[in-house]
Amino acid sequence: MTEEVPKKQIPAEENRFEVTSEMSLEIPFEVTSRAVCDLQFSELIPCIDRNLIYQLRLKPNLTLMEHYERHCPPPERRYNCLIPPPLDYKIPIRWPESRDEVWKANISHTHLAQEKSDQNWMVVNGDKINFPGGGTHFHDGADKYIVALSRKKNRKFHMDLAIWLNPACTNKMLKFPVDKFNNGGNIRNVLDVGCGVASFGAYLLSHHVIALSLAPNDVHENQIQFALERGIPSTLGILGTKRLTYPSRSFELAHCSRCRIDWLQRDGILFLELDRLLRPGGYFVYTSPEAYAQDPENRRIWNAMSDLLKRMCWKVAAKKEQSVVWAKPLTNSCYLKRDPQTQPPLCDSDDDPDASWNVSMKACISRYSAKVHKEKGSGLAPWPQRLTTAPPRLEEIGVSPEEFQEDTVRKTKVLKIDSNYIENEGEENK
Ligand SMILES: C[S@@+](CC[C@H](N)C(=O)[O-])C[C@H]1O[C@@H](n2cnc3c(N)ncnc32)[C@H](O)[C@@H]1O
Repeated sequence: MTEEVPKKQIPAEENRFEVTSEMSLEIPFEVTSRAVCDLQFSELIPCIDRNLIYQLRLKPNLTLMEHYERHCPPPERRYNCLIPPPLDYKIPIRWPESRDEVWKANISHTHLAQEKSDQNWMVVNGDKINFPGGGTHFHDGADKYIVALSRKKNRKFHMDLAIWLNPACTNKMLKFPVDKFNNGGNIRNVLDVGCGVASFGAYLLSHHVIALSLAPNDVHENQIQFALERGIPSTLGILGTKRLTYPSRSFELAHCSRCRIDWLQRDGILFLELDRLLRPGGYFVYTSPEAYAQDPENRRIWNAMSDLLKRMCWKVAAKKEQSVVWAKPLTNSCYLKRDPQTQPPLCDSDDDPDASWNVSMKACISRYSAKVHKEKGSGLAPWPQRLTTAPPRLEEIGVSPEEFQEDTVRKTKVLKIDSNYIENEGEENK
């Protein structure tokens, strides 16, 4: 179906999108028509709308970044219309070209190009916006930065990295495929906190690593819009007061390159949220002046961060140049050895670390289940075997490996039917 692009601003009532009988496939409810919203709403994100915060006189705590969190309109303030594309909208450029260029008309906000011109985030180039891959700490491109994080020349860093990327690998690091950021499929899910236009995540894709890039709609407005237009997995979000909406132990590695987050605030609550999200033995790659600058203020912050993370049982796995890498423990052993008065405390046993929808962050350590503790890790198969191997945590919610396999076989059949159908439809429509 080709979309009708409105060429001028039309009052919502006159601008209706008719659903015809050819379109109405099997919609389980009756739809006749939907109004198209006014063009001024072409970038509306219903629950992340700063105007709404002012209009409803909500008083979010600005210091805690609550104003960048979700605030949904009450039913009477919701729009019941289709969001129109911006004027002159073009069908997006396809992947992989989209990693490096998008149509300017689709997101006509060029402020970041000027503001970050020295860091090569993005460049306006006629009717396109180009993304040279730069970032605050990787002006020369995220690709080189990723290689530098595990390069061979940097022997000490490389060896440390080999060891902590694979806890089983102690003396055998030379046999380890360290050039690959994905560590033989053991690093697959990455969380890039404060991602900018998500170039780090974009360049990890060729390493078979999926980064979920996360940033709010703050002074760097439209950053996530650019990331999505480029085809990079990303979402609007903030480390503020609410848990990120992922269950515990979701990511093998978190990354922050100059994300400007005050990690020491509120008894380390933001670090504790990262800790909840990281898998056993998960890593945090931190590239920021606090990790390398020698001035007294950065030294003070570094010392306080190191002290906090030590109390959380994280260990420095590697530290070189601009970056430090911490690893969280594989088991509960270190937590159990702490003096019971040590801060931050362990979470109460009735806290569900997987509850994440609209749940306030908690300044406590989510300990592992008895199974994870005993098995010293999440026991996940490396990617891509992970796709078809039952993840051990399923057993904790009562799904056996056999049920997982049955489900996998069923899904594979459905996918085959679907792809046959798509191929046949494609042939018929030629
Ligand atoms: C200086 S930019 C760095 C961007 C990118 N990491 C790079 O290296 O180019 C800081 C980023 O952190 C984001 N940010 C700031 N505070 C944040 C928070 N509390 N949670 C998530 N992102 C945050 C900003 O929106 C922005 O994307």
